[in-house]
Amino acid sequence: QTVYLNGQFVPMTESQISTQDRGFLFGDGVYEVIPVYQKQLFEFDAHLERLKNSLQATSILNPLTDAEWKKLLDELIQRHPWEDQFIYLQVTRGIQMVRDHLPADCMTPTIYAYTNPLKPVSADIIENGIKIVTLEDIRWLRCDIKAITLLPNVMMKLAAKQQGADDAILIGRDGLVSEGSASNVFMVKDGTLITPPNSHKILPGITRLVIEKVAQNHQIPLLEADITLDELLQADEIWLTSSTKEALPITQLDGKPVGNGRPGQIWQLLRQHYQAYKA
Ligand code: PDD
Repeated sequence: QTVYLNGQFVPMTESQISTQDRGFLFGDGVYEVIPVYQKQLFEFDAHLERLKNSLQATSILNPLTDAEWKKLLDELIQRHPWEDQFIYLQVTRGIQMVRDHLPADCMTPTIYAYTNPLKPVSADIIENGIKIVTLEDIRWLRCDIKAITLLPNVMMKLAAKQQGADDAILIGRDGLVSEGSASNVFMVKDGTLITPPNSHKILPGITRLVIEKVAQNHQIPLLEADITLDELLQADEIWLTSSTKEALPITQLDGKPVGNGRPGQIWQLLRQHYQAYKA
């Protein structure tokens, strides 16, 4: 497997970065995860836009032009045999020899990217859905930045697993649903699709955006609105969405069935439209 590091393609087993990289020492960096179908980047413009927003919000220099980003990712894709892949792309602020929370001026960012085969969601999940628990959202107030600093997400994922669940839906201090530990949340009530509005509390998911577009194209009623825990518990359907999982049906929430306890009809319908949109 070949990875991209600072302008070069090298074998993954030989790629090395400095111990003084601020990504390693401070978690000082941002990332993207981009799906690839049939060797084509999916919704690349939206992912690039979000990367640029993350860089700007953190005052990390954008080291490449749009065309350069595209070229490097296309080359990374072509160097691997898999038709469907997902790319991990990371930009950290760079290397600093003396410890200081304050970054030096004009640092050279570290760029790293690698790709993985993208496996379809298992037949078991399509058939039976997944189990979710609600957990307190213990993260910071800038969840709109796709920061590499994922310790709270890891802790919440572990807590979900310890409770026998596949993942967690996070509930903010305001009592409202924010998102999943690495996904956005949708619910269906009386035929209407509802998802929390974009804000500093959630990542503006690209899959979320595509689902909104697909729903609109097919006249599925859609609402961006705050969701309380009570409303979530009364939902007919709940889904988690992300670039690596598309839309996953949740069939159990905090030990109780969601709707009739089976993946929902609107989910089935949207899944079909989503596959058609991808092709
Ligand atoms: N995570 N919210 C969070 C906190 C996420 O980490 C992700 C994606 C999403 C969904 O965004 P998108 O639809 O653009 O993938 C929402 C990626 C997949 C990850 O960290 O691996």
